[in-house]
Amino acid sequence: MSTSGPQPRRKQSRKGSMADIPKDLLQEIKRLEDLFTVDTAKLKAIVEHFISELAKGLSVEGGSIPMNPTWCMGFPTGNETGTFLALDMGGTNLRVCEINLPEEKGEFDIIQSKYRLPEDLKTGTADELWAYIADCLQQFIEYHHEGEKLDKLPLGFTFSYPRWTKGFDIEGVEGKDVVPPFEAALEERGVPIKLTALINDTTGTLIASSYTDSEMKIGCIFGTGCNAAYMEHFSEIPKLAHMKVDPNQEIAINCEWGAFDNEHKILPRTQYDVIIDKDSPRPGQQSFEKMIAGLYLGELFRLVLVDLHEQPHVKIFEGQDVAALKKPYSLDASFLSDVESDPFENLQETHDTFHTKLNIKCTKPELELIRRLAELIGTRSARLSACGVAAICKKKGYKTAHVGADGSVFNKYPHFKARGAQALKEILDWDKGRDGKPLGRGHDPVEILPAEDGSGVGAALIAALTLKRVQEGNVMGIRDPEGMLRGTKASDSKSKQVAPETK
Ligand code: BGC
Repeated sequence: MSTSGPQPRRKQSRKGSMADIPKDLLQEIKRLEDLFTVDTAKLKAIVEHFISELAKGLSVEGGSIPMNPTWCMGFPTGNETGTFLALDMGGTNLRVCEINLPEEKGEFDIIQSKYRLPEDLKTGTADELWAYIADCLQQFIEYHHEGEKLDKLPLGFTFSYPRWTKGFDIEGVEGKDVVPPFEAALEERGVPIKLTALINDTTGTLIASSYTDSEMKIGCIFGTGCNAAYMEHFSEIPKLAHMKVDPNQEIAINCEWGAFDNEHKILPRTQYDVIIDKDSPRPGQQSFEKMIAGLYLGELFRLVLVDLHEQPHVKIFEGQDVAALKKPYSLDASFLSDVESDPFENLQETHDTFHTKLNIKCTKPELELIRRLAELIGTRSARLSACGVAAICKKKGYKTAHVGADGSVFNKYPHFKARGAQALKEILDWDKGRDGKPLGRGHDPVEILPAEDGSGVGAALIAALTLKRVQEGNVMGIRDPEGMLRGTKASDSKSKQVAPETK
């Protein structure tokens, strides 16, 4: 990293002062601190339970955390080659990428186009969605390969919506096999593409990151939703024992860890978390995710403020019109992140945001409470997120590791990274960094770092690895191996990856 001159060790932030805050608000601040603070002992207890729940998800009887085998078997070597497509459906855009993996180890070239997802499509029918996606892919191919006679291009599709949890509600997709209708839409239009791998965003992140950094052991998304993937040995996966695979063979597991503690045994849920769950489209599901992910942070904040306003003994927003604040999901994580980024001692920016967005004119003490509340919610999110990372590291016995992370909360939420690193330090009892160096500044034994492009490069790599494996005759977990080879270019992959042993 290039720096210009000496840099401050820590980002400067305002000091704030709780002087001059009326007693009722001060008391509420204290109550909220008790409610939202997760101390070291609790973090450690959560991690221990997390480890046993990860194992349970891999067992025959199963548990809350699904621990889905992805059939992406092993890390890339860096020597994969060829041209692959990647398709990624985010909340607002559809992104199509063509990735070329050249001879040079760990390198890639990428071209991409984005297509806006029309709003009405998000609540339309499944057929409409697949038709729209197929049209976009057709456009992409026609634009970038005009007049060329093409072999079928292998496509990795990042699709992280096994449950519609992010503002989508399309009948006939949830819990259904999305491959046949998608392939049918491609077929109908004669688009020369073969869907080679359906990928979760975390697995893409894991594979893309490990392609450029062999220390990357876990892929995480901390965004609208939250989840992780890591490489597990078959010896640790009793629910796949019947497949009699070499116990030393590795396979990427998409944890779907948002479901951790759905039975409410360990997470310090507040009354506000209970409301979020109760009023959500899927009550009882994604307990961990609902305390952490971007989708819920603004709503948690809003619920607390509405509750305080309704308490007769707390004087907050008196005489103000709180109609806008009362609207569910009216505040998103970026609102909270703006509050936390306000650099001014008098919280002028927060004052202005509340005024313009919510029509509320806050007093100075109210602003102090608002700022503290945002810090508490943001900090809890980062500290609980670290529990999942620590659990995987402990389960796998990783004393050192890089963790590739992506998502809006990780990339944009102020202090999320530093708070996560602090929690890891507490959980894993570090007193010094790698090689005896002081902690921080790249020396933490386990570091959560910005990931490589998972849904582009990662998806392409997984398509490459999958195709290679099928070409070598290892068709485990592949639904239509013959279809996969039909019409796709014979391997020009020089990957040195050894095919997994099958018995
Ligand atoms: C989904 C996961 C996804 C995560 C991050 C969660 O809501 O269930 O599949 O990996 O969000 O996008």
